[in-house]
Amino acid sequence: MGIFGAFNRQKKEAADLGGKLLVDIHSHLLPGIDDGAPTMDHTIGMLRKFEALGYQKLIMTPHIMSGVYNNTSEIILSKLEEVKKVSADLGLNLILEASAEYYFDETLFERIRNKDLLPFQGNHILFEFSFRNQPLQVEEVVFQLKSAGYQPVLAHFERYVYFHSSVEVARSLRERGCYIQVNLNSFTGHYGPDVKNQALRLLKAGLIDILGSDCHRIQHLELLESSLKEAVFHQLMELKVKNPTYI
Ligand SMILES: [Fe+2]
Repeated sequence: MGIFGAFNRQKKEAADLGGKLLVDIHSHLLPGIDDGAPTMDHTIGMLRKFEALGYQKLIMTPHIMSGVYNNTSEIILSKLEEVKKVSADLGLNLILEASAEYYFDETLFERIRNKDLLPFQGNHILFEFSFRNQPLQVEEVVFQLKSAGYQPVLAHFERYVYFHSSVEVARSLRERGCYIQVNLNSFTGHYGPDVKNQALRLLKAGLIDILGSDCHRIQHLELLESSLKEAVFHQLMELKVKNPTYI
């Protein structure tokens, strides 16, 4: 139990979920560079909440989306340094790292070719598809990332409505070496019943590799905290996921 022995009951329960999820690999906490935290104050509020929930390390992943969020590795790393400094000054104990959530568009292949990517865990790349339009070349992006030595991680598979008819695309991508990431709040119904059902189908089929918060605002963490007693979260705690476990 160690240092967590002193935690109150609510924190202990969250920390028990954190027993599998000490490290979050998907969030939008870096201030002012995407649709996540607008200011450092918002960032700090969310950091405190992550720490209270039992997380020990956060890999923050701002959007990189050409023409919408024109973030670069340099911008992200410089924001990371700002946040690390504020976090340390406040006495928070979270280990903070940064990567990105790459939107799949015509620029992604070029980035892969030029190795213009900011991986986490050495070679992991989180990428996302359009929510509206089914992308072409779904398998090609996985192939290109793998060929360049990266470990592809497809963000929130359950949120792509055009894949809702089945989970076979997730199965096929996994067979090609892609990890499937699912958002914790999809199980709370936050994104609607269809997304929840797809998340449950993925859970039942054993197709979830990584669970992430995809936290944009503190309400995401409050909702998660209030849902931890639900049966599905007990099931998720038993899941063997590939979330990093090292500190
Ligand atoms: Fe995200």
